[in-house]
Amino acid sequence: MATHKLLLVPGDGIGPEVMAEVKRLIAWMNEHGLGRFDTDEALVGGCCYDAHGVSIQEETMAKARAADAIIFGSVGGPKWDKVPYEQRPEAGLLRLRKELGMFANIRPAICYPALAESSSLKRDVVDGLDIIILRELTGGVYFGEPKTITDLGNGQKRAVDTQVYDTYEIERVARVGFELARKRRNKLTSMEKRNVMKTGVLWNEVVTALHAREFKDVELEHQLADAGGMQLVRWPKQFDVIVTDNLFGDMLSDVAAMLTGSLGMLPSASLGETDPKTRKRRALYEPVHGSAPDIAGKGAANPIAMIASFAMALRYSFGMGKEADLIDQAIAAALAKGLRTADIKSDGTTVVGTRDMGEAIIGEMARLAA
Ligand code: IPM
Ligand code: MN
Repeated sequence: MATHKLLLVPGDGIGPEVMAEVKRLIAWMNEHGLGRFDTDEALVGGCCYDAHGVSIQEETMAKARAADAIIFGSVGGPKWDKVPYEQRPEAGLLRLRKELGMFANIRPAICYPALAESSSLKRDVVDGLDIIILRELTGGVYFGEPKTITDLGNGQKRAVDTQVYDTYEIERVARVGFELARKRRNKLTSMEKRNVMKTGVLWNEVVTALHAREFKDVELEHQLADAGGMQLVRWPKQFDVIVTDNLFGDMLSDVAAMLTGSLGMLPSASLGETDPKTRKRRALYEPVHGSAPDIAGKGAANPIAMIASFAMALRYSFGMGKEADLIDQAIAAALAKGLRTADIKSDGTTVVGTRDMGEAIIGEMARLAA
């Protein structure tokens, strides 16, 4: 059995609490021969700023490059609102994504049957939902230059962000989208704003050309991103895989999260290019939810998105599909038993804390594996 090197980055807010449940799971899998994981840990975000005056250290960048996968909690919080922009907690995460070239951010939104009541939408709209938002993660307005605030000297300031995309950036993420769709229901929806943005015009053109060249067997559809947002809450089951840019993807994936009952349910995988020699690719796995400072330290956070993110690492980085399935089934089983963290509670269910939910999921794994 191969040993997998993991870099664990708990981060800020509820990050360390939900990461504790992944650590428990890793220890259990190591102990029971379900995997061999070697773990190291690092500070990134506000906690790193407090300790070292920067949001990420060079030695952490080096560890991240050497790891087989990075398992990331969450960063940020009001405590660091006044920190210099370059050292704000989010900068550490953005640097990891950018410098490690992890351009393809896979955010599956799956509505577990037991949770259809927790969504703010009607049951028949979300029950059985299984879609993927594929977000471009290393380009667009997040990283485009210039990115400035200039004092105009007349009591006015001017802020500039730049949305920029090159052909190759659009093509490589679209390719991931077509390939994902092929293994699922064979439909890809591309979202942009070609009616107002040049990047939208190019996005549409590149996706259309790639489809004609390499993926004619996959159904391709284009939607304007605003209309797509509306369709996502009107009838989300029309989608299979949605591919979109960095900023639209950030927003649409939060919307998609709520379809599943809670932001606390959504995992994600951020992948780089596959190295043709080693067949390996850089990868970071993190929940879509943030650091939730309002509930941090209370032991109330939902660890499911974090645990499901670890399951994605098994699936996408280590070829451990069977073990990943086992984790997903254990999550569904714990929910089916009526266990809920506060964010997904509904009538007739039992509210438990972070640790109890983590232990219950491991308990279900033990039962299912036996
Ligand atoms: C996300 C988060 C991040 C983003 C923040 C923390 C920088 O909202 O991963 O969705 O905007 O990408
Ligand atoms: Mn976000």
